[in-house]
Amino acid sequence: RQDATTDYYEVTQKVATQEILPGHTTAIWGYEGTFPGPTLVSRSGRRTVVRHRNALPVPAVVHLHGGRTPSASDGYPTDLIVPDGFTGPLPHHDHQAGLAHGSRIYEYPLQQRAATLWYHDHRMDFTGASVWRGLAGFHLVHDDEEEALPLPRGDRDIPLMITDRAFDADGSFRYPATDPTLLHTPGVRPDYVEGVLGDVILVNGAPWPVLEVDAARYRLRIVNASNARRYRLELAPQPAGGGALVQIGSDGGLLATPRAHDAIVLAPAERFDVVVDFSRYRVGEEITLANRLGSGTTAAVMRFRIARRATDDSVVPARLSPIERLDPARATATRTFAFRDQGDEGWTINGRPFDPMRADATPRLGALEVWRFTSDFHHPVHLHLVHFQVLSRNGEAPGPYDAGWKDTIDLSPGEEVAIITRFTGYRGRFVFHCHNLEHEDMAMMANFEVV
Ligand code: C2O
Ligand code: CU
Ligand code: CU
Repeated sequence: RQDATTDYYEVTQKVATQEILPGHTTAIWGYEGTFPGPTLVSRSGRRTVVRHRNALPVPAVVHLHGGRTPSASDGYPTDLIVPDGFTGPLPHHDHQAGLAHGSRIYEYPLQQRAATLWYHDHRMDFTGASVWRGLAGFHLVHDDEEEALPLPRGDRDIPLMITDRAFDADGSFRYPATDPTLLHTPGVRPDYVEGVLGDVILVNGAPWPVLEVDAARYRLRIVNASNARRYRLELAPQPAGGGALVQIGSDGGLLATPRAHDAIVLAPAERFDVVVDFSRYRVGEEITLANRLGSGTTAAVMRFRIARRATDDSVVPARLSPIERLDPARATATRTFAFRDQGDEGWTINGRPFDPMRADATPRLGALEVWRFTSDFHHPVHLHLVHFQVLSRNGEAPGPYDAGWKDTIDLSPGEEVAIITRFTGYRGRFVFHCHNLEHEDMAMMANFEVV
């Protein structure tokens, strides 16, 4: 439904079954009962209102990842949608938007450029378990600037949500953290403390799918929606001359100029928008989207089969979208956050586990700030509300996958990364956290309050 200013969606989260592995049914928690959930579509600058109904057996929180969203609709981890009839314990925290019963209305102003966003569960302590069961979907934002470009569109613009999952013999999802609160019980160090991995790679909910393509350019909007797995994606074989993955966008939309890669590395929650020209292959050829960080069953993600010759009037323009360079000399604050394993405290930021009651940073509305992250492990660091630019890695230039506006950064062991962002948009409390969902559930999360 829509009116002059707003697009409306209604989404019900429910238990459903889906045939994921051939011949088996898997119980899922799905938006509208599907995994991934329905792809929502918005226009930049036009409000989208989503009523999320919770018909699951547990409370839920919905977060639009990459959305510039007021705090009350951002899916703060304690802003639960409590299902009708729920009698279990509820947290006693200071809620940002309060508990909602049955359903909650989320308002998204979407004052932001075209980008590939995704929505997923964000319940405090339970995000990993909920997303694993299926609570994730795409939310695409379009704008005029992007539509004016001659990029591949229609059937040749394909969102790909990559996840890994483990299954029991009967086809049900296997998630080892049956009681996720164990993840941050002092003295308990479960063996999945580094994050939960699966041995089956799913793309849009299907294991190692095969996509028939024309010998033409395709735009692939790739999100790594895995709980904890990183990927290094590469086409195998590479076409003669390499550079097959032409990156046109990242988390926050189009890059200034395209960048050709042989491979791309995606940490959890990162998005890479790439154009692949399948006319560089022969009709009948089959190409694997390989994962060079995997082995055995996780070494392949999906395949493309070149089905036929086709006309193609798409182009990847040499200039995509201008990006204003943020200047660190103008920053008014620099903050440092150490992402560390503190033993019994679990995964922490600056030595402290998440506390919804504590503001860990208080940037002023409109302030330009430099944030430095240090790390002991792989931690995909994600900020809500804002997009940022990467200034440096270990004091050197940003890496090959850091271009454009980011909302999640792949932080490696021993690394120090500096980013810069401007806290525009909305006042209020927002989280930033490690997007390894088990680390997040083990309290590797903190608050910034825009004042
Ligand atoms: Cu995609 Cu706070 O998360
Ligand atoms: Cu987010
Ligand atoms: Cu982490």
